Amino acid sequence: MATHQFKVPATSANLGPGFDSVGLALEKFLYIEAAESERWEVRFRDDFLKVLPDDETNLVIETAIGTARKYGVEMPPLRISMGSEIPLTHGMGSSASAIVAGIELADRFCGLNLSEFEKVLRGSEIEGHPDNVGPSVTGGLFVGYYKDDELFYNALDLDGLEIIMSVPDYEIDTKAARGVLPEMYPKQDAVDQNAIGNALLMAMFAKDFRSMGRLMMEDRLHEPYRRELIREYGPVRQAALGAGAYATVISGAGPTLMTVCDRADSERVLEALRSVPDCIHECIRLYKKI
Ligand code: HSE
Repeated sequence: MATHQFKVPATSANLGPGFDSVGLALEKFLYIEAAESERWEVRFRDDFLKVLPDDETNLVIETAIGTARKYGVEMPPLRISMGSEIPLTHGMGSSASAIVAGIELADRFCGLNLSEFEKVLRGSEIEGHPDNVGPSVTGGLFVGYYKDDELFYNALDLDGLEIIMSVPDYEIDTKAARGVLPEMYPKQDAVDQNAIGNALLMAMFAKDFRSMGRLMMEDRLHEPYRRELIREYGPVRQAALGAGAYATVISGAGPTLMTVCDRADSERVLEALRSVPDCIHECIRLYKKI
């Protein structure tokens, strides 16, 4: 009987002004081992995962079944063992990793032979935006646009940067974090956001990390509203920038905060961040696929 094992990386979406479009893959993983079985079975290897359903309503399984069906084939039931280093509902792409794992299972057990593009497209269709599922599939820095079943993206490696995640000890539901955003934005905010996003990508390509960091902290679409939900936002940013970091932004929908700094400064920045209580502060490498 066929068995497969693989891992799917965590992600940090948005990077400030890249709302619903930009994301990074991180060296933390969802681990899957699966074998064909008489019926669906899930075993969670980590205790914090045990709040998740262990039947066909589990997002991994639901995605696998739905993906197989979309391609006109039947998903065989599997015995799945799941372990994870990605905290749930904290803004590090745990749902996206589950979706990508489900797509991967359908691909492998049904012989779909999906391309990377098709996997990102299917994941975006399920999530509604590509900024978490995209980097989970491609690794590296991902920039994409998905609308009405059309997808455009590119991914590349971003070397020389260190990422420090500050993970508060509470959760924020993505729906709630989207609920605080306005329905409409002033024209000037839209114009500014467009210019900021364009300049940010050019700064990344040019490895002009100081400008990149300044621009990352100029988001107009979500950070001004979501920061109110995260009490560590001000203290973490102040500590990080004071120690020479390039930027601190909300990771995904939060509450995790992502600080970006030069590798040479990471010890000093991490030390400064440790003065902010009730958070776990951790250096995490960017994940590259190759
Ligand atoms: N771009 C998404 C958001 C990421 O900020 O809501 C979390 O799904």
